[in-house]
Amino acid sequence: MFDICLKGGSVYTGGCFKQTHVYIKGEKIALISEEILSARRVVDCSGLLVMPGIIDPHVHMALDLGFAKSCDDFDSGSLAAIRGGVTTILDFLDPITSEVMLQNAFQTRQRLAEHSRIDYGFHATLGHFTGDVEELVTGVKALGMNSVKVFTTYSESDRMVPDAVLKTLLDQPVITMVHAEADDLVHADWRDIGTYEDSRPLAAELKALDQLIQFQGAGTLYVVHVSSGSGVQKLMQRERVFIESCPHYFSLTKDVFKRPDGGLYLMAPPLRSAAESEKLKGLIDQVHTIGTDHCPFTQAEKLGSPDASRIPKGVGGIETSFLVMYNLFGERIIDKMTRQVAEIFGLAHKGQLLPDYDADVFLFDPKGVTDIGLSGACDYSIYEGSALSGKVISTLLRGTFALENGVIHDTKGKYIRSSLDESTG
Ligand code: URP
Ligand code: ZN
Ligand code: ZN
Repeated sequence: MFDICLKGGSVYTGGCFKQTHVYIKGEKIALISEEILSARRVVDCSGLLVMPGIIDPHVHMALDLGFAKSCDDFDSGSLAAIRGGVTTILDFLDPITSEVMLQNAFQTRQRLAEHSRIDYGFHATLGHFTGDVEELVTGVKALGMNSVKVFTTYSESDRMVPDAVLKTLLDQPVITMVHAEADDLVHADWRDIGTYEDSRPLAAELKALDQLIQFQGAGTLYVVHVSSGSGVQKLMQRERVFIESCPHYFSLTKDVFKRPDGGLYLMAPPLRSAAESEKLKGLIDQVHTIGTDHCPFTQAEKLGSPDASRIPKGVGGIETSFLVMYNLFGERIIDKMTRQVAEIFGLAHKGQLLPDYDADVFLFDPKGVTDIGLSGACDYSIYEGSALSGKVISTLLRGTFALENGVIHDTKGKYIRSSLDESTG
């Protein structure tokens, strides 16, 4: 006897939609079959799309920038995630400058993440690292991670990675995630909000990408939040290079910085020109993953200063990520937000609807409409006021309803170790 039958939906399995039934036993998908079999609970999914839970590879819950803290913690952020069909998030440890700080950074974030309602994993993060890179990578793997993020900018807050460390890391059996902006072309002290994009220009992204291509060794390069079509063009179709972009770079342009409330939209790297955004859309098939870079701050913090350099950078987007991308690209987007993330980061048994996989599922009404309102703990959304086609109806985390016909239930996320071993790093 199965616990749940998701009956009669259009099920995304093996890379396409099939009219079939999903049978769940405990935390796992037990069977996908066109046969009607007995189950304790039958959920009518007719007219609905049944898809694997979204995996967001790039979130910052409770990110402490010193002068401001992102307003979603793991509880409120995961609540927003559930409403958007997201069942796993990958967050970042605080930046460290030596491998001896790794354990503490891990424990600190683990304590925060215990409040997550959905599953979670971590990436290690380096600041101005001066330690031993090989020891670091060994430690990262021992803690169940397989990725280390670095910044090629943020020298003003001492988070910029030294070139020698970056080169060594790019030769290691680990995923090197890079926030790519050439620091010498970035003006962190830029005050004018309306022209904010000029302070972190496209040229800064492209120069950093050129350098990364030169530095790449035997390891895997994953470039986070690529903001431009030209950036994707530089990176695409290279061995062991993965490209992540974010919903906001496809859906908004730098024109919003000129609005009276332009400060609400500040993030790094910034939104680009309409031409670059169009080019990015045209290259969607070259993008491997979609991460939100979910990092919301309140209106008071975003509008609290007329000086761009004093406004915390980052926006929210976890609740709307699938909707925004599905409205732009349809079903082409699903693998980039599920299976491909799981495969790149080694999240075994996640990201697909197949027997023996975790029963992380969301039910989506393609004929519904979502009026975008507030999300999580934030008091605004960059998409507020827009109506998008489709609606997330229910979300299951490992076989338990976290969202059921719009109603939230208590669920508890768990830490997911990367299953990638040293040889595949
Ligand atoms: O502006 C952004 N993206 N804030 C989040 C931190 C980062 O750089 O990813
Ligand atoms: Zn970044
Ligand atoms: Zn980020």
